[in-house]
Amino acid sequence: MTNAPWWSQAVFYQIYPRSFADGNGDGTGDLAGISSRLDYLVELGVDAIWISPFQRSPQVDHGYDISDHCDVDPLFGTLADFDSMLAGAHERGLRVTIDMVPNHSSDQHPWFQRALASGPGSPERELYVFRDGLGEHGELPPTNVASLFGGPAWTRVTEPDGQPGQWYFHLFAAQQPDWNWGNEAVLEEFRRVFRFWLDRGVDGFRIDAGDALIKHPAYRGDDPLMPLIRKDPNSPVHRIYRELRKVMDSYPGERMAVLEMGGDREVLTSLVRPDEMHLYFNFPFMHSREWDDDKTLAEAIDLALWMRGSTGTPPTWVTDNHDTPRSVTRYGSHVQLAGDYVPTTGDPAPPTTDLTLGTRRARAMALALLSLPGAAYIYNGQELGLPNVDDLPEELLQDPVWERTGHQERGRDGCRIPLPWGGAEPPYEFSPTGTSTWLPQPTDWAPRSVAAQRGDPDSMLARYRHLLALRRAHPALRTGAVTWLPRPPHTIGYERTCFAGEHPGAAVIEVWLNLGTTPIALPSGEILASSAPVTDTLPADTAAWVRTR
Ligand code: NOJ
Repeated sequence: MTNAPWWSQAVFYQIYPRSFADGNGDGTGDLAGISSRLDYLVELGVDAIWISPFQRSPQVDHGYDISDHCDVDPLFGTLADFDSMLAGAHERGLRVTIDMVPNHSSDQHPWFQRALASGPGSPERELYVFRDGLGEHGELPPTNVASLFGGPAWTRVTEPDGQPGQWYFHLFAAQQPDWNWGNEAVLEEFRRVFRFWLDRGVDGFRIDAGDALIKHPAYRGDDPLMPLIRKDPNSPVHRIYRELRKVMDSYPGERMAVLEMGGDREVLTSLVRPDEMHLYFNFPFMHSREWDDDKTLAEAIDLALWMRGSTGTPPTWVTDNHDTPRSVTRYGSHVQLAGDYVPTTGDPAPPTTDLTLGTRRARAMALALLSLPGAAYIYNGQELGLPNVDDLPEELLQDPVWERTGHQERGRDGCRIPLPWGGAEPPYEFSPTGTSTWLPQPTDWAPRSVAAQRGDPDSMLARYRHLLALRRAHPALRTGAVTWLPRPPHTIGYERTCFAGEHPGAAVIEVWLNLGTTPIALPSGEILASSAPVTDTLPADTAAWVRTR
């Protein structure tokens, strides 16, 4: 055995609380719903959960606009519901991590309301990013930076005297004003918020928009991500994360945080530090655009391994989350719609999707996701092979992106549909029979429900359980070295071994993924798992784990 901290090899399961399970029968998922399904997660075989925001919020961005960081939104329950969910998870050996949203608050947060009421030049305004406008009467925004959700990133306020006044910055929706992290009081407040949840017993955090906290004050361009100070090792962002790390390290147990951040090698190396946040998502792994593009996929793997070598930070693998079209749909499309979590208007029109093909490929990709060293994340419903729902009626769309882009982009609702648990028709035991769920579920999801898949040894759910059990049993699937094998075009092939002395006698496993159209030869050995039937060759769109020693 090794002394590796739990999070460095864990499989996390992301719960989007609105869509996981509805405990009170109002059509929206909640904390009681999570409590009622903890046994399912144990059976699945994950180590930890990450719950997207459930804190008090006007729900403009479904919880990513927080108005009170230290309370539960009534939509999701109460602090007592949280405590009992946490206790239930811990009793079952599941770790609990929660979302932390430090880049912005809700415009209904009392501190923002006070900033509005206090007027220009007040210390209250210093907590957010307020600027005078340009033009004779300040009628033009201070810069031409665009919001990531479409439209301008600056909104003009009405001053306490009733006159149009200053502008405030929001990287996302206008109801999500950015904090000014240059102000010490913001750091102090977040130290308090971290402690509040650490005191309650959470095992860690996922840091929302973790690369965006510091803005370049003089920036005048169009790209909203450019204003971030990233390369300066003395950038205030490193001090912020070091300070927050100290708070986490002052608690017993191995508390952790994973950064949500974009990025190529330059960005990653500028933000990931051993004494700061523990993990970061390897988004390039989910961003390769064409299924048969083995080069991009291999580069994404190499990048994370290189980062591990140079910073000591374990890689974190992910293919799906609540911001990205589901992988079954992406892999079934000629051009993947993966990429930035907000599709840009420049993206190609959605291509025809072959869900049978996409499902076959998603099954194969799971063998790559769960065989690489480090942590991995599974997004609720991924283990059921749910596709993206791209035909929601326009009048039901809820993502703020839809309105902010003037109905140019439909947004992310399609990957946030409530989960089907059982039964023949909606709401599929997500809510009590007869309840309308917050987003409607497709009428053909009965075969995709948990109950339907539980009884089928060949289902996606059964595959995930099998893979997770193997990953537990074989340390070479979660730690150690990746050695590339000579491989034909459009394939991925690597050998997985533990580091010397780590787990003496552990199996050596070759992982093969065929992204092309021609079958390839498999090495001799014991087939531990395959995403479709294999013989001594691996067909197209299929992956296998072969124990060679
Ligand atoms: C990233 C989150 O994952 C996304 O859902 C959210 O809209 C933005 N950050 C803003 O908080």
